[in-house]
Amino acid sequence: MQTDSPVPLYFQLQAIIKRLIETGHVSCGDRLPSERQIAEWAMINRLTVRQALAALVNEGVLIRRRGLGTFVAPPKLEQGLTKLTSFTEDMLRRGLSPSTVVLSLSVQAAEQRIAQALWLTPGEEVIVLERLRLADDKPMALEVSHMPYRRFPDFLTAEFDLARTSLYELLRRHYNVEFARAIETLEARSALSREAELLGIASGAPLLARERTTLDRADVPLEHVRSLYRADRYRFVIEVVK
Ligand code: GLP
Repeated sequence: MQTDSPVPLYFQLQAIIKRLIETGHVSCGDRLPSERQIAEWAMINRLTVRQALAALVNEGVLIRRRGLGTFVAPPKLEQGLTKLTSFTEDMLRRGLSPSTVVLSLSVQAAEQRIAQALWLTPGEEVIVLERLRLADDKPMALEVSHMPYRRFPDFLTAEFDLARTSLYELLRRHYNVEFARAIETLEARSALSREAELLGIASGAPLLARERTTLDRADVPLEHVRSLYRADRYRFVIEVVK
């Protein structure tokens, strides 16, 4: 550590810890030494260590477990934003096993915003499907999909195995839906208590809220989804070209 550097000590320590993780000297699940031990090793103040660790916890690089210590977090899932893919495809491509807990399935009157996105008149019926999405049995995202009821009138009675089947696969197979493009927005917000509980994170923890309106080949919107991703598990990647 360079005490005469203009780079703050806590920042230098953050960089050192990140480098140790990148080079495999410490790996996912490893426990870090205590704040006191790190302070002694780096010959810096314990508060500076605390500041560095807190910043890394915030970034999702480290996880703090009450009473147990600070651990190296699993690497974030990198997700492209330019390909229209399904959760199932995304997880399988990474070698992870996707699964779903269906939280609710109902038909409701579309609120203004949803109706607008799906070209319906407000109050027209929409299928509302709320799902918790998991990868290797770990909660990753919460999704609420809305679909026009009149396009899929037997969706609720068909007894689809929604816990095991991809929605996109199902729409393709049973309704001949080929999605061609989607309009998406992405914003950050903190988790409400129910969302946090389902996703296994602390209430108020950061989420990436992604909304998608998915259109078929005739450019008709057939799905509007709000996906809440754990910010500690996801990093979105976009290629920008000149
Ligand atoms: C992603 C998208 C959602 C979409 C879902 C479909 O998670 N963000 O908008 O509804 O994929 O996934 P699946 O076909 O696996 O149910």
